[in-house]
Amino acid sequence: MDARDLVRTVKDAGTARGLRALRTAWRHDRADAAALPRRGAERARVPGALTGAEPLPGGGVLRFARSELRVMVAVGGAVFWGWDGAGWVPSYALAGGGPEPDPRAVLEPDTDGGWRVVSERVTVVVSRTGAVEVRTPGGAMLRRELPPRWWEPVGEAVDGGPRAGAAGAGGGAPEPGGAGGGAPGGGAAGDGVDGVPGGAAGRGAGSGARWLARAEVPADARFFGLGGRASGPRLRDGTYRLWNTDPRGGFGPEDDPLYITMPVQVVVSDAGTHLMFHDSTWDGRVTLREGEEGAGSGQDRPGVSELRMEGGPLRGWVLVGTPARVLRGWAALTGAPAVPPSWALGYQHARWGFGSEREVRRVVAGYRERGLPLAAVHLDIDHYAGHRVFTVDRERFPDLPALAGELREQGVRLVSIVDPAVKAEPGDAVYEGGRAAGAFVRDARGREVRGEVWPGECVYPDFTDPAAREWWGGLYEERLAQGFSGVWHDMNEPVSFRPFGDMTLPRSARHALEGAGGDHRAAHNVYGLAMARAGYEALVRLRPAERPFLFSRSGWAGMQRYGGTWSGDVETGWPGLRASLALVLGLGLCGVPYSGPDVGGFGGSPSPELYLRWFQLGAYLPLFRTHAAIWAGRREPWEFGAEVLEHARAALAERERLRPYFVTLAQLAHRTGAPYVRPVWWGAPEDRALRDCEDAFLLGDALLVAPVLEPGADRRAVRLPRGRWYDTATGAAYEGPGQVLLDAPAGRVPVLARAGAVVPVRGAAGLELEVWAPALGRTGGGLLVRDEGDGFALPELERFVARWAGGQVWVEREDGTAPELPVRVRGV
Ligand code: NOJ
Repeated sequence: MDARDLVRTVKDAGTARGLRALRTAWRHDRADAAALPRRGAERARVPGALTGAEPLPGGGVLRFARSELRVMVAVGGAVFWGWDGAGWVPSYALAGGGPEPDPRAVLEPDTDGGWRVVSERVTVVVSRTGAVEVRTPGGAMLRRELPPRWWEPVGEAVDGGPRAGAAGAGGGAPEPGGAGGGAPGGGAAGDGVDGVPGGAAGRGAGSGARWLARAEVPADARFFGLGGRASGPRLRDGTYRLWNTDPRGGFGPEDDPLYITMPVQVVVSDAGTHLMFHDSTWDGRVTLREGEEGAGSGQDRPGVSELRMEGGPLRGWVLVGTPARVLRGWAALTGAPAVPPSWALGYQHARWGFGSEREVRRVVAGYRERGLPLAAVHLDIDHYAGHRVFTVDRERFPDLPALAGELREQGVRLVSIVDPAVKAEPGDAVYEGGRAAGAFVRDARGREVRGEVWPGECVYPDFTDPAAREWWGGLYEERLAQGFSGVWHDMNEPVSFRPFGDMTLPRSARHALEGAGGDHRAAHNVYGLAMARAGYEALVRLRPAERPFLFSRSGWAGMQRYGGTWSGDVETGWPGLRASLALVLGLGLCGVPYSGPDVGGFGGSPSPELYLRWFQLGAYLPLFRTHAAIWAGRREPWEFGAEVLEHARAALAERERLRPYFVTLAQLAHRTGAPYVRPVWWGAPEDRALRDCEDAFLLGDALLVAPVLEPGADRRAVRLPRGRWYDTATGAAYEGPGQVLLDAPAGRVPVLARAGAVVPVRGAAGLELEVWAPALGRTGGGLLVRDEGDGFALPELERFVARWAGGQVWVEREDGTAPELPVRVRGV
């Protein structure tokens, strides 16, 4: 128990909820103590010496004295490796059945007794002791995974396979640190988006053996990703836990882990960019240490990533290439990001504690009367009856369908929070329905696992059970009937309140895991992902003509198939503002492009200046939403004085003007995996200064946004990638690479446009193309996907080229014809 826990325990102790939470903690700990085997004597194992090789499609199997390794290069260039018989399916991350092996990639002997697989885009070299090195076609080292180590309970073969008879192997291997658990018998990973249930797992897939994977990367490399990390986007030296966690109230840059963790790292170095994904859902810790060039005796010290997992298959994927190619490969592997309905790219207002229909009407009228655009209002748990999911408090919200209809006429949608925990109350319709469907998580003795959440004592649907997903999905019909247009999944780490320790389900809680069976150690990190799947598939089933709007606090690799996410309870304060951007950038690099913060922060009362700077940042992020806790100050733009209101109005107007660009970026994310919000090194990863720039971002290819993240600023330094950039406020041109100082008065943040960019915008007369003059002698271009409604049809992608001719800038379609849209040239 840390000091914060202690204070909370004392504060909550007297309340009924506090007492229930304490009792829950005690019950959960007791259940774990009874059901989870204690960690006894263990033996360490390493693969041993290479003994043979067998070619297979895309690569082959390499046999070692005490293990075996499958290496496979897939069509498209993704590299898979799996130890101990682990195959790439089943996997919660992969879309469908996973990719096909590339028949042209073949296993061949390497010079010093190892083997290699050579393919078009990547070379994989396996050493005689089991190191796996990934190289560019030119031979530059991108990542070297050293031979792994396992720790297994003595006397219990985990589930057969080459590890049996591993006695005494790898003596002297260090103990991995980390939390308890680690006994055999955990669950297997489940299937992908529409894959087959778990039985076909490799032998390694259900393993409860702990393992350690240590890798070296080039000395100049920088690490990014690992899900949503508030301290990022650049992940500095330190240890990052892989266990989805509600940080208990507001968090800042120093809080880790948060709601979405993923064993996904993006590594950028001079030699190239790669993404490494360790496909195990179990608890783990990644320790990162950046390298140093010319360290010590002038030798480079490589960067190191050390991953210790409590279990799960030891397998991974590596994608190499430019950042754009890597993210394209990641989307091909784990699924295309869902396209939000176009209204969800507009500004949205949420609050925990509207408290009544009247208050919702008052707030919406406030926007309307001031001529401020508003796309949606989000209702939090206070509109439920007694905080119970899929209910409505009829006293305070007597006619939600009528309210929804009335708002819809004004162009405002209603979005509903959906919490997974169900009040365990006999007679309650949702509870009884779930019981009848056998949908709730049970303990090792077959009893419902109870936890403490907003409604009181609760049970939890097992979303890793297809039948439970089906039952749960049916409940969304009620939300649609109430008039809601979208859903906001919350508390799905999942949370069970307790005054100290891990606020989630006991690790021994049983889960279906798509039929493979297992416990919460394997299911925890994919609980939110599987809930998103249940919600998304239900909405598609119930309303097949409309793209669902779904965003989820927790998730895992592949969650983008079902929707986006948001910051969660980011703390009100300047550090929280900075963390907001770190999260969006990091999640984007992990394949989740649609997200954004609680503008203004969750818990406090921002100063007018902080609120405005947050609002200005939010205007350029995919999810642009104000939100606050029930105890926090207001978040309507007019609550901060006349000046802030006018500046917020300008930010909203700019967001509206850029809506066609956002719609295009959403479609591009779906087609290519490229996030809307990209680190400034996206197109120039070789520029080392850009890798370290954490206070600006690219919005698509065209714009560079430099938000103000500190108080008292009226200008700021902006680091430019190579090429010409225009300050969109003044039209002044700057040449990158380099740094410039730009004005950032209260009314705006610096936004630069890339020379040559063609940006679709909404002008006074509708859609138009804004083109920023290419540098003389250069050309440029841009893309447009028109919003054809909110269905599933894939609209056409239009490409434009910008060039100089006869002393003028011209914009043409790809086929040389003129665009049928007004064109506005800027920067001349
Ligand atoms: C926690 C969520 O992060 C927050 O956004 C929400 O307002 C509260 N739960 C209440 O539902």
